[in-house]
Amino acid sequence: MAKLSVELCGVEFKNPVIAASGCFGFGREYEKMYPVSVFGGISLKGMTYEERQGNPPPRIAETPSGMLNSVGLQNPGVEAFLAHELPQIVGKDTVLIANAAGSTVEDYCALVERLSDSAVDMIELNISCPNVKHGGAAFGVSCEGAASVVRAVRRVCKKPLIVKLSPNVTDIASIAEAVEAEGADAISLINTLLGMRIDIKSRRPILRNNVGGMSGPAVFPIAVRMVWQVANRVKVPVIGLGGIEKWQDAIEMMMAGASAIQIGAALFYDPYAPIKIVEGMNSWLDRQGVKDVREIVGTVQPW
Ligand SMILES: Cc1cc2nc3c(=O)[nH]c(=O)nc-3n(C[C@H](O)[C@H](O)[C@H](O)COP(=O)(O)O)c2cc1C
Repeated sequence: MAKLSVELCGVEFKNPVIAASGCFGFGREYEKMYPVSVFGGISLKGMTYEERQGNPPPRIAETPSGMLNSVGLQNPGVEAFLAHELPQIVGKDTVLIANAAGSTVEDYCALVERLSDSAVDMIELNISCPNVKHGGAAFGVSCEGAASVVRAVRRVCKKPLIVKLSPNVTDIASIAEAVEAEGADAISLINTLLGMRIDIKSRRPILRNNVGGMSGPAVFPIAVRMVWQVANRVKVPVIGLGGIEKWQDAIEMMMAGASAIQIGAALFYDPYAPIKIVEGMNSWLDRQGVKDVREIVGTVQPW
């Protein structure tokens, strides 16, 4: 059996497969099917300091090989998270990553300060949610904006800090460099791509929010390209996500430069995907005679 464990910013993951934020909630629903410990880590549902109801429905639309969502960061707020959600998932043999969002730099700092004193292992800063008017995406689409929020948060963050980037930009590698320079310990990408569908009978957008975030297998090649570009420009570890549904995708993403991967939309139509991905990676590594999964990271040989 190949060694599947990876270490990111001093935190040990038993395997490189992580649940993507917003696609696994706080773990309650999936625990009826399998223990949450099948994942190396879990990025919990995106959180804000105050509770948010999210956007009005409809907030999901299907697309060929993917989906659009405009959930809009519905979450119970940090105090309810600490009182009711964290206690039920802590100590279950998986790395816990809190996904933090805000509208202002002060919001982000207050939230991260509160999370820093909790039992979560890492904090993933979401500067890339396209579904709320001030969901952080405004920070994530420019080097200056991204740098300003990471600089302020870094001062109050006592946990390893992952910064999650938006793909809705022209030069994602420059934004990655900007957040690395301000002290990001790792970078995750991609969040969703901004999209839209229209109901041709009513001539209205299918989503009540008009636009939403695109994810699922259709975005995979874009995610691989962006992970490759970012991994070639930064020294900190990169976590790759966007459209991963099979073990082959996970290996491809790691060859592009990801030290670990996250699974999002695939969990909705194949909740057992993480188990199949871990098993499939393991068998492939054995067949290839690779003893340690870390050996494949960034091994793509560009033409
Ligand atoms: C329904 C839904 C809710 C999401 N909520 C969040 C969130 O709260 N925070 C966040 O950083 N990303 C959120 N995302 C983005 C995913 O974590 C992921 O970056 C994106 O969907 C691409 O991965 P995938 O193609 O594997 O789904 C959400 C995605 C979906 C589909």
